[in-house]
Amino acid sequence: MNVSPDRNQQAHAAGGSCENLPRHVAFIMDGNGRWATARGLPRTEGHRQGLEALRGTIRHAGKLGIEVVTIYSFSSENWNRPQTEVSFLMGLLRRFVQRDLSELHDANVRIRVIGGREDLEKGILALLEEAEQLTRNNTGLNLVVAFNYGARAEIARAARKLSLQVAQGHLNSEDITEDAISQALDTYGLPDPDLIVRTSGEMRLSNFLLWQAAYSEFYFCEKHWPDFDEAAFDEALSCFSNRQRRYGGLDAEAL
Ligand code: IPE
Ligand code: IPE
Ligand code: MG
Repeated sequence: MNVSPDRNQQAHAAGGSCENLPRHVAFIMDGNGRWATARGLPRTEGHRQGLEALRGTIRHAGKLGIEVVTIYSFSSENWNRPQTEVSFLMGLLRRFVQRDLSELHDANVRIRVIGGREDLEKGILALLEEAEQLTRNNTGLNLVVAFNYGARAEIARAARKLSLQVAQGHLNSEDITEDAISQALDTYGLPDPDLIVRTSGEMRLSNFLLWQAAYSEFYFCEKHWPDFDEAAFDEALSCFSNRQRRYGGLDAEAL
């Protein structure tokens, strides 16, 4: 893997021990509800604490010099939850953007939102667009917020986009290559995730980054998301640094 010495120096300075720092780490922040239930608290309290864990994770990623962090904040299937929980999660996202945006901007974080935008409530859409607009020229950590996101819906959107270009005569069907599909996805221009972390013991993708995860490394941990701290993040990174990525080829020593 091509890792710039700068980022590894930053990792060491921040106390990390990673030799191979991933460029892109994606988080499936799972287990907020279970965290709360185990403490006799309402599920919403788990989401509130989960936001604290997210703030810590973003800070740590910035210190380490990771280029891209993607967070699965609300899936296109999460609308199936009880209305009270959905409303709480929408309120939390609003508060996160309203309270944290200026701080993230000052920290040179660039925010990008992926997921369906068509049916979003206008107020939320405006806030998300404001976050993207304000931070668009920042050069630090890229924070990709997957909101109302489902990978199959994203791939279907990309297919519709490309087929329209073919129908309008702007694209030949032979030019629908892997690259063309990647560029038509919400994540265009971003490197694929090197590492996908899922908390809370569940070992599935739940419709997250299906196309982009073709060669991602996976790391599952038992901790619930609100308990995910710097040490847990460092552990995931250290585990990643020992993975052998072959992309279908062979290790150098086997050649
Ligand atoms: C993740 O925690 C947050 C969202 C999906 C929005 P959950 O709410 O899924 O927590 P569990 O999995 O029920 O414990
Ligand atoms: C995935 O978690 C979505 C987010 C973390 C936002 P879920 O809790 O919704 O996934 P399932 O239902 O356990 O597969
Ligand atoms: Mg869950």
